[in-house]
Amino acid sequence: AARVSISFTADSGTERRVRVPAGVSVFDAASWNGIAIDSTCGGHGTCKKCRVRVVDDDGADPPVSRLDPRAFSPDELRAGWRLACLAPANTDIRVEVPPLVTRPKAATVGVGRQVILRPAVQKRFVELAEPTLADQQTDLERLLAALDDLDLRVDLHTVRALPRVLRVADFRVTAVVVDDVLIDVEAGDTTDRSFGIAFDLGTTTVVATLLDLSTGTPQAVGSVLNAQQPFGADVITRISATMLDPDSLGRLTERAHATLDELAQEVCREARVAPAEVYEIAMAGNATMTQLALGIDPEPVGVAPFVMAARSFPEVRARDIGVRVHPGARAYLFPALGAYVGGDIVAGMLASGMDRDRRVRLFIDVGTNCEIVLSDGDRLLATAAPAGPAFEGAAIRCGMRAAPGAIEGVTIGDEDVSLQVIGDVEPAGLCGSGLVDAVAALVGAGLVDGTGRLADGTAVRSRRPRLGARLASVGEERVFVLRWAGDEGDLARAVYLSQRDIRELQFAKAAIATGWRLLVEEMGLAARDVQQVLLAGSFGSYLSPASAVRIGLVPEVSVLRIVSAGNVAGEGAKMALLSMRERAGARTLLKEVRYVELSDRPDFNDRFIDQLAFPS
Ligand code: FES
Repeated sequence: AARVSISFTADSGTERRVRVPAGVSVFDAASWNGIAIDSTCGGHGTCKKCRVRVVDDDGADPPVSRLDPRAFSPDELRAGWRLACLAPANTDIRVEVPPLVTRPKAATVGVGRQVILRPAVQKRFVELAEPTLADQQTDLERLLAALDDLDLRVDLHTVRALPRVLRVADFRVTAVVVDDVLIDVEAGDTTDRSFGIAFDLGTTTVVATLLDLSTGTPQAVGSVLNAQQPFGADVITRISATMLDPDSLGRLTERAHATLDELAQEVCREARVAPAEVYEIAMAGNATMTQLALGIDPEPVGVAPFVMAARSFPEVRARDIGVRVHPGARAYLFPALGAYVGGDIVAGMLASGMDRDRRVRLFIDVGTNCEIVLSDGDRLLATAAPAGPAFEGAAIRCGMRAAPGAIEGVTIGDEDVSLQVIGDVEPAGLCGSGLVDAVAALVGAGLVDGTGRLADGTAVRSRRPRLGARLASVGEERVFVLRWAGDEGDLARAVYLSQRDIRELQFAKAAIATGWRLLVEEMGLAARDVQQVLLAGSFGSYLSPASAVRIGLVPEVSVLRIVSAGNVAGEGAKMALLSMRERAGARTLLKEVRYVELSDRPDFNDRFIDQLAFPS
C-alpha cells in the first residue's frame, strides 16, 4: 500500500513527521504516533473536538467531510480547518494541532510504544432529574438523553437493572459503555473503577494481565500452562485429536475456557477487583488456539490448503469464551492474516510497531511454526517457516521445557564448560535457548564443524583432554556431555547433546533462515541491510543474540541490533484494550502486509539445504 507523510506541528512549534498508509485518518495517524489531539468521543465523529488545520503539500484543498461544515465557519473551512477523525491523509500533508484542553493519558506498552488511552470501555457519571407526573420520560430515555453525544445500542441486561439502580441511587448513576453498547448502569459514581484483561492464549502457556483502563497500569499478571496440553504439545497434534475423535473439539474448547477463566479469576483476586468490574477482555492467539477457544473446527487450518473459518470474528462476548467477568463484557479477538500468521503475530506486529519505523526490521517469532515479518517502513512481508519441534525440547534427547533445572546458557572455554541453569539447581535437561547456546558454543570451540558434525573424541583428547572426555558415544551416536551427573563416564544420568539434536537444530535454523532470506530478497534487499532483528515469543525472547548470529539463525548484524522483544502478543492485547485507535491500527496492518508462501516455491528445497550449514 502507498504511504504518505504527515508533518504535525504543535502550537509550541515542535514538528514531527510520520508516515502512514494512505487513507488513514489524521486522528489515527496522530494517535498511533503518540501525538494527542483533543477528543471526547475517541474519534467517532461525534464530539467535534478534534479540530486541526490541514495544509496539503500540493496546494490542493483537503477534502471536506459531512460534519466539517457543522463544526467550522466557511472562513475556517477555507483556511483548512477540519475534524481530524474524519480527515483522511491521502497525500503528503502538514497538520497544525491546537493546544489540548485536557491532556489525555498515555501508557508505554509493547516495544517502547506510547499509547494514548482511548479504551472501548467508557464510564460516565450522570445525575438525572427524577420523573414526575409532568415528566413521564422512561428510565432509558432519561439516561440516554444524558448521553446524547454517544450513539448507543442497549443491552437487555441494562434495561432490566435500570429501574432498581436508578431508584436506589437517587438517579445518580454511572453508565458503562463498551464501544457503542450500553452494557450496564451502576449506582453512584464508579468512574474510577474500570478494568480489562489482556490474554495471550499460547499453545503452551496462557498469560493474563489485568489492566486498570483509566490509567493503563497493569494490576496483576498470571500465567498457567494451557490445559489442552494432554491433547498434544503443538497445534498439529491438537488438530489431529479433533480429527480422530468427534468429541475432542468440545473437550478442547472446554479446556481453553477453563484455562482462561482460571486466570481471569486469579488476576482479579490478586488485584482485589470484582470480576464484574472487568468490562472487556482482549485475546491474541494463533489461528488454531483462537478457533478452538471459539468452538470452531480447526481441521481446515491444519491441512492443505490451510484455511481459517474467518479472519476476524463477529461480536464475541467474554462469556462466549468461558470468561466469567461482567455478563455484558465484550471480547476483542485479534484478526489473523491466515492460518499460519495468526492473531498473535498481528498483535506482535502492532506491539513492536512494525509499520511505524523507517528502518529495515526483521521480526522472528521462534517456535514450531516460526512466523517471520520484514518491514522497510513502506512495505510489510510475512511468512511462516516450519521449524519443527527442536525448540520445544520434545525432539531433543535431553530436552525439556524452560523450567527449573533446564540449561539455558552454555559457554565453552579452553578446557571447561560452564552452564547457566534456570533456578540455579542441578541441571536436568536442555531447553530451546540452551540448545542454541550449546551448539553455538561447540561451533565456536571448533568441536562441531560447518556441516554440523561433532568432532571425534580421540582426536580432541590429545590437545584438550578434559573437553575430549566429554565427547563420548551413546550406542552409535556421538554426543557431547554437558554435565556428568554421577561419575565421569556414566552416560545414563548425564545431560548431553547428541549428533541428532544438532541435526534437529540445523533443520529448524535452515527453515527460519530460508524464510527470512526469501523475504529480504523479495524486498530487493540484502541480509546486511537489516537494521534491527526483533526476537519474539517464548523461545525467541530468551535466545542469546550472539548465539543466534553464530549459528546463522538471524542475519549477521551487531548484537546490539538484536532485541528481545518479549511477549509481544500479550503486549498487543494490552494495546487493544487501552486504545480503539490501536485496534484500527491492527486492521490497517492486516491490509498492508503481504503473505509470502514458502512451501510452493520450486527453489525452497535447494535453499533449505544451502542453509543447513553453520557459518564459518
Ligand atoms: Fe470526536 Fe473527531 S474525535 S469528532
